[in-house]
Amino acid sequence: MDVVIVEDQRALGHSAASLVVEAVRADPRLVLGVATGSSPVTTYRALVSARDAGLDFSQVRCVALDEYLGLPESDPASYHSFVRREIAAPLGIRPERVLVPDGGAPDPDAACAAFEGALRGLGGVDLQLLGIGRNGHLGFNEPGSPFGSRTRVARLSPTTRADNARFFTRPEDVPTHCLTQGLGTILEASRLVLVASGPHKAEAVAAALEGPVTEACPASVLQHHRAVTVIVDREAAAGLHGTGRPHASIGGDWLD
Ligand code: F6R
Repeated sequence: MDVVIVEDQRALGHSAASLVVEAVRADPRLVLGVATGSSPVTTYRALVSARDAGLDFSQVRCVALDEYLGLPESDPASYHSFVRREIAAPLGIRPERVLVPDGGAPDPDAACAAFEGALRGLGGVDLQLLGIGRNGHLGFNEPGSPFGSRTRVARLSPTTRADNARFFTRPEDVPTHCLTQGLGTILEASRLVLVASGPHKAEAVAAALEGPVTEACPASVLQHHRAVTVIVDREAAAGLHGTGRPHASIGGDWLD
C-alpha cells in the first residue's frame, strides 16, 4: 500500500487526478470506478482541467459504487445524478457509458444482480476511486459487512444517514437503504485509490490502514489488496503512526 500525505484538498485532488490521467493515457477505454460524496470532488475538478488541456475521456466508462434505494435516477440527490452532473457531463462521457446500480428498480435484488452482470461484461473496474466513511465504510458497506460480499441491498447506519443529510432537504428524507457494491466486488478492481481529507476522517483512516483487518472496519480490507494508493491530507493523516510519505502533490503537465 502506498500512502501519500498532501497539504490540503486541492493537492489531494491533483494527486488523485494525476493517477487517473496516467491510467487514461495508457488506456483511453479505462473502466473508472467513481465514488460520490465530498472527498473526490477536487479530483473530478482536476480531471476537468486535464480535459481542458486536451485529454479525451470520451471512451472511458464510469462505474458507481452505490445508489440510494428508492430514489429514481432523476432525483438530484441520487448518485446517478451526481455521476452525470459532477463527472460524466464535465468530462464528455456519454450517459450510456455510465453504470450505476438502479435504486428505482421495482426489484432491487434483481437490479443488484444486473449490476454485477453488467460490471462483469465490462471486464471489471480498472481503477477505482474510493472515499471512506467516518465509521470506516467503503461504498455503503457499513461495519459488519462481510469481506466477500457482492452488490446487494443494505441498510445505512445512523452515522451515515446523519453525515449525508446535508445532501437532502430534511434529515428524514435520507433513504434508509441503498444498493452497494460489496467489499468482494470492490476488491476485484485492478487498482484502488482512496482519498480522505479533514480531521473527521483521521480515526477511520488510522483504523483502516494501521488497525487490525476486521469487518468492524470495512476499509481495513484494503490491507489485503495488492495495488492500493491512499491519498490523505494532513488532517486526515493525523492518526497515522507508521505509514505515509509526505508529498507536495503528484504533479501533472495538465495542471493550471
Ligand atoms: C460514495 C461512497 C461513500 C463515500 C463516503 C465518504 O459513493 O461510496 O463510501 O465515499 O461516505 O463520503 P464523503 O466523501 O462525502 O465524506
